[in-house]
Amino acid sequence: MNILYVDASLYEDSRTKGLAEYMLSKLGNEHNVKKIKLTEENIPPLDIETLIRRTNLADEMNFDDPVFYYAKDYTNADMILIAAPFWDLSFPAVLKLYIEAINIPNLVFKYDEEGNAIGLCQADRIVYITTAGGKIDNEYGYEYIKTLAKKYHGIKHCDKIQAENLDIINAKVEEELAKARKKIDNLVENIKKNI
Ligand SMILES: Cc1cc2nc3c(=O)[nH]c(=O)nc-3n(C[C@H](O)[C@H](O)[C@H](O)COP(=O)(O)O)c2cc1C
Repeated sequence: MNILYVDASLYEDSRTKGLAEYMLSKLGNEHNVKKIKLTEENIPPLDIETLIRRTNLADEMNFDDPVFYYAKDYTNADMILIAAPFWDLSFPAVLKLYIEAINIPNLVFKYDEEGNAIGLCQADRIVYITTAGGKIDNEYGYEYIKTLAKKYHGIKHCDKIQAENLDIINAKVEEELAKARKKIDNLVENIKKNI
């Protein structure tokens, strides 16, 4: 399986990244894993020249240009794993820059004649891993990624693994992370049954 691992964490000892790497280790080393550490990629916000050029190339279905580098990996992966700390009720801005870089018409999705999006991605699963300082009771991170994946990319299965309350007074950090690891174990068992 070709796994695309998109890491939106910042800290070297990120708990979110720790859980994502735990999941990769549980999946085993027989997979081809491509890692994208977003803070090292320096993906720029779209400027008008790039947007116009990119739109014209996508209309012509000419995807050789480096501007499509991230989108090609995304559309060709068998599974996508996202590590995204819970920031300001969603995720770090580097992940939104990445989404803008991959969401390319005619490569990742296309529209039908009624204006419905049709997904063109090969992956059938996204796993979204997040950790939060408090409770995740308003969620604009995973829900956004899930809607995009299902509605635009045609990715059928979306799973969220989360650990909450990691920064509260008397936080039981290890206990919460262990619970999340247990959920990862169950998810990996299910994934392995269906490979
Ligand atoms: C910029 C920033 C914004 C954050 N926003 C929230 C938030 O809205 N809600 C929350 O519960 N925790 C918030 N936190 C706390 C993080 O979610 C928490 O520390 C998380 O475990 C960080 O993950 P990491 O260890 O992978 O970096 C925020 C932390 C930072 C640095």
